[in-house]
Amino acid sequence: MTIEIRPIRLEDAEGYNRVLDLVAREEVYLRLIKAPPLPASLDFVRNNIARDNSHFVALDQGEVIGWCDVCRSDERGSEHVGSLGMGLAPSHRDQGIGRRLIDATMEHAATRFRRVELDVYESNHRAQALYRAASFEHEGTRRAAILLKNGYQDILTMARIFEI
Ligand SMILES: CC(C)(COP(=O)(O)OP(=O)(O)OC[C@H]1O[C@@H](n2cnc3c(N)ncnc32)[C@H](O)[C@@H]1OP(=O)(O)O)[C@@H](O)C(=O)NCCC(=O)NCCS
Repeated sequence: MTIEIRPIRLEDAEGYNRVLDLVAREEVYLRLIKAPPLPASLDFVRNNIARDNSHFVALDQGEVIGWCDVCRSDERGSEHVGSLGMGLAPSHRDQGIGRRLIDATMEHAATRFRRVELDVYESNHRAQALYRAASFEHEGTRRAAILLKNGYQDILTMARIFEI
């Protein structure tokens, strides 16, 4: 299996929307329970490209099977902050692709953001392991902050600081 990892392009929006929908419908990893309509994903991708946000995709034989994005905050005084989201199709997990995807995205983000932050559910041990391996540090826990189909979950906040 040859996996390509590269910055997202506008023509990837449909594939991105498809894999986002797959992960969202699992209902245990993301806040979304389904992908937004395709035009919203198109706008999201267009905006990320225009704003030079760090948005990468993983492709298997040209098909998008994962994404990692870091989007800049719009809040005054927090423009140096990006928030990270990512996911892989179930068929492509546990093969080291997540590590490659986050490493490529962080290399891009390192020269554009001072702080990259994320939320991860307490039950998601695999994602936490990946984020720790990618130099994110646990900053705090919002206890019983979300009700998922696997019960009330704490939300962990993690962040990585870059020296820019
Ligand atoms: C989280 C995700 C991106 C990780 O990508 P991946 O390719 O599956 O993970 P990798 O193969 O790169 O492995 C990540 C690390 O987790 C570890 N790991 C795997 N399963 C684990 C588990 N159940 N508990 C703890 N650690 C685990 C791996 O050993 C690896 O650590 P290492 O690099 O020190 O060996 C991917 O599994 C995914 O998309 N999951 C569903 C969506 C999701 O959770 N998104 C993030 C929301 S915050």
